[in-house]
Amino acid sequence: MRGFGFREHGGPDRLEFVDIPEPAAGPGEVRVRIRAAAFNRLDRFTLAGIPGVPIERPHVLGSDGAGTVDSLGAGVQGITIGDRVLLNPGMWDGTCEACRRGQEALCRNYRIVGEHTQGTATDLVVVPARNVHPLPSRMTMEEGAAAPLVFQTAWRAMRTVGEVRPGDRVAVVGAGGGVATAVVQVAKLLGARVAVASRSAGKAERARSLGAEAALVFDEGENSLDRVLWKWSEKNGVDVVFDSVGAVTIPRSLRSLARGGRLVVIGATTGAAAEIDLRTLFWRQASIRGSTMASASEFQEVLGHLANGGLRPVLDSSRPLAEAAEAFRRFDSADLFGKIVLTVP
Ligand SMILES: NC(=O)c1ccc[n+]([C@@H]2O[C@H](COP(=O)([O-])OP(=O)(O)OC[C@H]3O[C@@H](n4cnc5c(N)ncnc54)[C@H](OP(=O)(O)O)[C@@H]3O)[C@@H](O)[C@H]2O)c1
Ligand SMILES: [Zn+2]
Repeated sequence: MRGFGFREHGGPDRLEFVDIPEPAAGPGEVRVRIRAAAFNRLDRFTLAGIPGVPIERPHVLGSDGAGTVDSLGAGVQGITIGDRVLLNPGMWDGTCEACRRGQEALCRNYRIVGEHTQGTATDLVVVPARNVHPLPSRMTMEEGAAAPLVFQTAWRAMRTVGEVRPGDRVAVVGAGGGVATAVVQVAKLLGARVAVASRSAGKAERARSLGAEAALVFDEGENSLDRVLWKWSEKNGVDVVFDSVGAVTIPRSLRSLARGGRLVVIGATTGAAAEIDLRTLFWRQASIRGSTMASASEFQEVLGHLANGGLRPVLDSSRPLAEAAEAFRRFDSADLFGKIVLTVP
């Protein structure tokens, strides 16, 4: 079976179509015929090689996917061959102490499709039955592939970890990232007042259509991130800042917080090591909180909002699997806005 991925770790020049064995559904598993897949920034990191994460090679990329149920392993109930489904890319063991408390995102054996296992940029994928969910009828396969990873991340980051409450001021740093486009919608849904801050005026403006009341532009000079956010908050500071940009913005994101504010971090696209001023932390009584993926019940909540149209995936672009290399290059594009999707014939 052919899939899009790599044989050797490295940069985008290592990307190629590779052959891997056709997977079979074992007990409790489901095999899905993929109709659409989507990339995440994670695929760049997996390609480069993540320290401590051994992966099978050749490796097929892609954490997100939607398609039709192709075959069922022994003991699987409540799912029928031919069902239109989307995949939850987060996998947990179901047995550790965190899982038993319903805190699957904290599972000690947490894994992600396409990172720890073969991914979705191919024809067939096998996942545990609990990772397969009916595709809401209003969603296309492409939307079904675009939604799962970023919306579950956004949901947990804002609702559970960020504790966003109605009326809170929430700032989203970066406009066009897949997660950023989801966070704006989730924060708005939770009743927050949302500002998006981007280096690009065009991208910040586009975020208004997702529910942002303010489209802010920042730079390295006069209009620094903390200055534009301070002004937007009428010198109160921001209750929750969502920052997945990392090293280049974290110090100023912290400085933008209100007393009791929360800086929520789920990624570090521009670098993992940042210097922070501890005085800001204690004087503002602020906190920096990490979040990753979501629990099973949080994923169900997201599905509910996708089904009723309250949350809608943003597609940057969609191309057939055969053009996956070109699709992947969108990550380097200055106007990337939303998810990079592949259709699988
Ligand atoms: N922990 C988790 O569960 C989890 C889940 C998903 C993603 N992540 C991580 O979170 C990060 C975001 O992922 P993503 O898929 O949304 O995609 P992404 O493509 O990495 O998003 C990049 C975002 O960062 C901004 N950005 C990039 N370089 C910047 C710079 N030099 N200065 C200011 N802003 C900059 C972009 O803003 P503009 O669009 O405004 O240019 C864009 O919004 C990634 O590192 C990813 O690995 C973690
Ligand atoms: Zn567990």
